[in-house]
Amino acid sequence: MSESFLEIKSLSKTFGGLTAVNNVNFSMGRHQIIGLIGPNGAGKTTLLRMMTGILKPDPGGSVLFKGEECAGKNTWDIVNKGMVSTFQNMRPFRKLPILANVMVACLCPRALKRGEWVKKIEAKAMDALEFAGISDMAREKASVLSQGDLKRLEVARAIATEPELLLLDEPFGGLSPAETDLMAKSIKRLHKGGRFGRLHSEGPAMIIVEHKLHWLMMIASRIIVLNFGTIIADGTPDEIIKNPQVIEAYLGQGGN
Ligand SMILES: Nc1ncnc2c1ncn2[C@@H]1O[C@H](COP(=O)(O)OP(=O)(O)O)[C@@H](O)[C@H]1O
Ligand SMILES: [Mg+2]
Repeated sequence: MSESFLEIKSLSKTFGGLTAVNNVNFSMGRHQIIGLIGPNGAGKTTLLRMMTGILKPDPGGSVLFKGEECAGKNTWDIVNKGMVSTFQNMRPFRKLPILANVMVACLCPRALKRGEWVKKIEAKAMDALEFAGISDMAREKASVLSQGDLKRLEVARAIATEPELLLLDEPFGGLSPAETDLMAKSIKRLHKGGRFGRLHSEGPAMIIVEHKLHWLMMIASRIIVLNFGTIIADGTPDEIIKNPQVIEAYLGQGGN
């Protein structure tokens, strides 16, 4: 049953002569957190982009989410099914207040219950910002945000859609150790689920792309390793750090 939550089959993406993702297959259950690691250029971001409708996979690939095919569908529909991603390169609406950036996400039909209107949306967006730890800046323009706070805005926007599967592309990228610690705690709290003001979260399943392995391995119970677009290992953090192929491909190259 749980294996039908997400099933990725024969997923590939070629850009001209370059195969960025090469026949990736895996499945995951509703309550897992998977860490997705691999050297720069391994295809991690491309894989997430195919899952969320930003890139169309090569023909024959399949992304089955809760039994429905998402490959080649548009992002709006995929978010509405409950799969949402944050981005490695953040692109907020810089001239809009931070709060409005999150209110846009609250407008997705999945999160917008019947009868809810602007005041409620604003309150809900504020709850998401509070969860992410930047509610004190809610009415300032998004252009004032530091790198670390932009990551928080990404997370607030994503959780405002009340996802069941949350994809995080380098959530610790550019963060100081103290900020990383805070973000890791937020991610764990979100996964546990519960009520966050007006937001109710059952605790989404997660796929987290990260280079900061020490932090990732404290959160994820399963790690998938990509190298040149191909899965070379899939196991517990303990198995992964001992795997000779992984050490050669990734850890041995000065990965941190
Ligand atoms: N839109 C694109 N056009 C051409 N090549 C791309 C594009 N996006 C990614 N690539 C290439 O695909 C490979 C995988 O990239 P990416 O998925 O960003 O890797 P990762 O996130 O693991 O660092 C890289 O060689 C990258 O240069
Ligand atoms: Mg990437």
